Amino acid sequence: MAHAVAKPTLGLTHPAQIDHPKISFATKETDLLQWKGDILAVGVTEKDMTKGENSKFQNPVLEKLDSKLGGLLSEVSIEEDFTGKAGQSTVIRVAYLGPKRVSLIGLGKATGPSVSGFHVFGESVASVAKASQANNVAIALASSEGLTPEVKLATASAIAKGTLLATYEDNRFKSESKKPSLQSVDLFGLGGGPELEKKLRYTEDICSGVILGKELVNAPANVVTPGVLAEEAEKIAAAYSDVFTATILDAEQCKELKMGSYLGVAAASTNLPKFIHLCYKPQSGSIKTKLALVGKGLTFDSGGYNIKTGPGCSIEMMKCDMGGSAAVLGAAKSLGQIKPSGVEVHFIVAACENMISGTGMRPGDILTASNGKTIEVNNTDAEGRLTLADAWVYACNQGVDKIVDLATLTGACIVALGPSIAGIFTPSDELSKEVVAASEVAGEKLWRLPMEESYWESMKSGMADMVNTGSHQGGSITAALFLKQFVDEKVQWLHIDMAGPVWNDKKNASTGFAIPTLVEWVLSNSSS
Ligand code: BES
Ligand code: MN
Ligand code: ZN
Repeated sequence: MAHAVAKPTLGLTHPAQIDHPKISFATKETDLLQWKGDILAVGVTEKDMTKGENSKFQNPVLEKLDSKLGGLLSEVSIEEDFTGKAGQSTVIRVAYLGPKRVSLIGLGKATGPSVSGFHVFGESVASVAKASQANNVAIALASSEGLTPEVKLATASAIAKGTLLATYEDNRFKSESKKPSLQSVDLFGLGGGPELEKKLRYTEDICSGVILGKELVNAPANVVTPGVLAEEAEKIAAAYSDVFTATILDAEQCKELKMGSYLGVAAASTNLPKFIHLCYKPQSGSIKTKLALVGKGLTFDSGGYNIKTGPGCSIEMMKCDMGGSAAVLGAAKSLGQIKPSGVEVHFIVAACENMISGTGMRPGDILTASNGKTIEVNNTDAEGRLTLADAWVYACNQGVDKIVDLATLTGACIVALGPSIAGIFTPSDELSKEVVAASEVAGEKLWRLPMEESYWESMKSGMADMVNTGSHQGGSITAALFLKQFVDEKVQWLHIDMAGPVWNDKKNASTGFAIPTLVEWVLSNSSS
């Protein structure tokens, strides 16, 4: 598993190098009732829970299990009012049977869950396993008969992903921690064979990228500096050197490329900026499409002279402001393992910190970006777009066909879509369809917002070509209109504002958002 590098840092914090035991997934087509182990977890819909006049389960899997248990399942479901609603679960300790415990986990309505519903199922399995310190678990659905092979593949993958990611705990900053107990999972009734095996390996590859992304976001700004992000990129290039090359530009090299907009943001910090460019090229075969993934990489956003103050400004959360770059690097790690063909991918991050000092940019300063456009900085807290501007120009110079950027760009997007949906902006219906389709396979939520050209009015400057902050209303839209000034007309582009979904407030942890979607999108552009 991935770990953000340990270096002497401010506060002398060294993230521990914790070795996470790998969970092994296997598919089983044998009789479920013969399985021996710690927990047998069965996913049930509300329909599966219907009982006949004799108060027996109509569902054959549940009926068999219940009669083996002498009617315990049906008794417990009545006592605990377990009806199979999504989010419900029950566990019973049993004697004289293969499994030590049997758990029923609610999947909700009869139609069965979506991809994200099966993630939640996997998460529930992980929490049941954690509660009883189980080493091994069998997972089955009460109704898996009649599912098509494709649905079985997607279901197995979603369950495995939910289980794997929910078992993982980021304990690198705790002086003591316990390792998760879960080591193996047997999946019943979802088929078997090489195709499913391959899908499960693929799911593990995605999860390892998600975990890297989560660790990068979770780590505070005194641990993950721009330099550390660059080292992480170099580590990916070294680990998958057959397909990756890394280029890291320092401030001087960025100055030669005339990246005044990015360097303006970086100017206040003693943690020096690093411009990261990872290039993925398959080992053989011709390239059909060239893509760029650009991530906002603000390792900390204080706001600058327009410092974040007052309740709700969340300055203490601004270690998350490199969530876009974490998504880009996480996707790179996954793709280094999956190795798609026919596609070249550029992973680009203009990493820096938005701080305050005598060398920093002032409100009112005018910056000149690498495409020659000038920007009057009327708010130093609208810094993400300033870094992305030069990153987009650089991406276009790589000769790519399509750019997707990911950024924790605006609080306004959280106001508009809440904490779990990212906003997307693009002039291209086609690219929007591609990325939304990828997000649906990945079980992540995106919502397209309009690029209302008339709102550009508020971005006009008296002195320069534009200001960096428009009117308070529609703040996510004016941010997207700003980015548009830095893209070549012939390049298709799509901007993802993930300020909401980067962090899960309830779990108080990062989400690894967008990594599965990015991997799916790159694969949909590949020839494998
Ligand atoms: N990094 C913030 C956006 C953000 C806010 C991310 C909350 C995650 C949670 C961004 O740089 C920012 O400060 N945006 C300003 C823009 C404004 C000054 C135009 C905002 O949203 O308030
Ligand atoms: Mn900001
Ligand atoms: Zn920011």
